[in-house]
Amino acid sequence: MKLEQILFSQGFGTRRVCAGLIDAGLVKHAGQVLDDPGLDLPTEGLVLEVEGRPWPFHAEALVMLYKPAGYECSQKPRHHPSVMTLLPAPLRHRGVQPVGRLDEDTTGLLLLTDSGSLIHRLTSPRHHVPKVYEVGCKHPVDANQTERLLAGVVLDDDPAPVRAAACEAIGESGLRLTLTEGKYHQVKRMVAAVGNRVESLHRSRFGSLVLPADLAPGQWCWVPGWSG
Ligand code: URA
Repeated sequence: MKLEQILFSQGFGTRRVCAGLIDAGLVKHAGQVLDDPGLDLPTEGLVLEVEGRPWPFHAEALVMLYKPAGYECSQKPRHHPSVMTLLPAPLRHRGVQPVGRLDEDTTGLLLLTDSGSLIHRLTSPRHHVPKVYEVGCKHPVDANQTERLLAGVVLDDDPAPVRAAACEAIGESGLRLTLTEGKYHQVKRMVAAVGNRVESLHRSRFGSLVLPADLAPGQWCWVPGWSG
C-alpha cells in the first residue's frame, strides 16, 4: 500500500493532511524519514513512527481502554466527557466505537473498535462472551443472594429471567459476577433484584482479555496479539 494511503487508512486525516505529514518529515520507519507519499510498503507487521509516536498498522482497530469513573460511553455525552476524548485523534477519526457500554460511574476494561462485525460478535448474546465484574455492595452479601443471581432474576423490562454465568461472594460485601449478555444497567438491576445495592462497579475481564497491570485509569493500548 502507498504510504499516503496507509496514513489515511489509519485515521491521520485527509489525504492532503497525510501528504503534509510526510512532507514535514514527521513519518519514519525503522528510524528513517520517509519522504515519498507514493512509496509502496507491505502493511503486515508494519510499524511507522508518526509525529514521534509508534503506530502499528491495523486494517481494523481493536483497543482496550482503562475506563475511569466520570466518563460516558455515549458519542453524545450529556453530563460528563466522552471516553472518546481519552483516545488519540487517529483512532477517533477512523470511527472507533465502544463495544457495549459501561455506566458513567463504572471503571475498568472497555474495548473499542472500528469493526462493526466485531462489535456484533462481541456483544450479541448468542455468542455468550463472558464479562466479569467486581461489585462492591452496600449490604453484606449472603448465600441466598448469590444463589438467586445464579438461578436467575426477572428484571422489569423482560419476563425472561437473566442469570449470572458465575457468581461468588468476595469478602463481606463484594461480588464477582460473570455475565454473558449486556442489558442496560444489568449488574445494578440484578443486584437490586436480590435486595442489595451496587456501590462500586469495575469490569475486570472481557472474554479472555484483562487490562495490562501497567495500564493506568484513562490509558489505552492495542489489544495484544490483535492482527486485524
Ligand atoms: N452493568 C451495569 O449495571 N453497569 C455497567 O456499567 C455494566 C454492567
